[in-house]
Amino acid sequence: MSQTTSEQISTTLVLPYLNHAVRMYEAGYASRGDIDAAMRFGCGYPAGPLTVLDEIGLDVVRDGLAARFAETGDSLHKPAELLEKLLADGRLGKSSGRGFYTYEGGDVVVDGETPNADDTPTMRHEIATVGVVGTGTMASGIAQVFAQAGYDVIVVGRTDDKVAGVRAFIDKGLSRAVEKGKLEESAKEATLARLTPATSREALADADLVVEAIAEDLEIKLELFRDLDRIVKQGAILSTTTSSLPIARLAEATGRPEWVIGMHFFNPAAVMKLVEVVTTPLTSAEVDETVRALSAKVGKVAVSCGDRAGFIVNCLLFPYLNDAVKLHEQGLALEAIDEAIREQAGLPMGPFQLLDVVGNDVSLAIQQELHAEFQEPGFTPAPALEKVVADGHLGRKTKKGFHDYS
Ligand SMILES: NC(=O)c1ccc[n+]([C@@H]2O[C@H](COP(=O)([O-])OP(=O)(O)OC[C@H]3O[C@@H](n4cnc5c(N)ncnc54)[C@H](O)[C@@H]3O)[C@@H](O)[C@H]2O)c1
Repeated sequence: MSQTTSEQISTTLVLPYLNHAVRMYEAGYASRGDIDAAMRFGCGYPAGPLTVLDEIGLDVVRDGLAARFAETGDSLHKPAELLEKLLADGRLGKSSGRGFYTYEGGDVVVDGETPNADDTPTMRHEIATVGVVGTGTMASGIAQVFAQAGYDVIVVGRTDDKVAGVRAFIDKGLSRAVEKGKLEESAKEATLARLTPATSREALADADLVVEAIAEDLEIKLELFRDLDRIVKQGAILSTTTSSLPIARLAEATGRPEWVIGMHFFNPAAVMKLVEVVTTPLTSAEVDETVRALSAKVGKVAVSCGDRAGFIVNCLLFPYLNDAVKLHEQGLALEAIDEAIREQAGLPMGPFQLLDVVGNDVSLAIQQELHAEFQEPGFTPAPALEKVVADGHLGRKTKKGFHDYS
């Protein structure tokens, strides 16, 4: 593949992603630092989109988008108004000392938007015992995060076997760390000793925080939140790690919506640094602050966002992955697209590699939600994505997705 083709592929996919990040910031959905941190710590990207924009130059990105918009007429390619505004103010990015961030000698310096030390969240409520509901992928990882950080963790599942599975999962992961010399045997034992298995939700009565990580189904979660409201003591925080369901609905199912919040962890939860802290209009400021402080205490990076489909990461990531599928539909090879993104954009994985890791069914469901919420024609799921799902080629988990793993 020629250098030019590779660059073109990268530009075609990256520019709309950058534009989308500008619009998210422009709309006040999240701060510049949180948008950038979300993509770094949630996706392993070397830099967040607003930092990338400053590096490339806002003028270059605006011109590239304008050319693409003239070609496609897709509103997602129309340069964000904020880009034009910043350019009119002479803010070209790093090269002019001012873009989304402010620079001196090439380094980011403090400006009016830099959070100050007084903004560092503190624990407004005491948290000692954490309840985790669920026994699947996320629940197991989340239980590990809190137990390793020294919290007593009550793991609630529907059967003894399922709950034992969570302990076995954590034991396996930590044993591997011990073998590699990264963890003391005594630390592993101490972590495991902090886990209390339970098959009755009544065990959560005295928890200070509950993290729900059961099936992504609104009715199932509503039933759980009604029950948690009945069982868990007043003054406890009730959180969900839902990827897509409206958290306000869960909050309204309780008599204490101000105590309900989203803690969107990333998979694998024990490894990925990011937690999107999702507040509804009813979440209390103290609960929000406590959850952000707690996330930092357990070694995570917390970013704040509102109760909207996709939060920060999925909202920026999946339209880009969907665009990659559409580019492939136009005749470009998967491998060429993957390679261009790794080599030119410097991202750790090409889009088709990532789709296969996430699961094409999961990716399609997220893209459908984004399309439904934002009503952007450009968010229409790519037919080739629908086809791989219909064919059962879900990705690594079925040994075949866009790529073959058999
Ligand atoms: N997998 C991810 O990458 C990821 C990332 C972030 C958030 N999430 C969210 O985390 C939550 C759990 O996802 P997961 O990937 O761990 O799923 P999973 O399928 O691994 O686990 C689902 C869990 O829910 C339990 N469950 C199913 N039906 C239930 C019911 N009726 N009552 C009680 N428990 C029930 C299952 O026994 C299992 O323990 C979902 O809300 C998902 O959106 C997933």
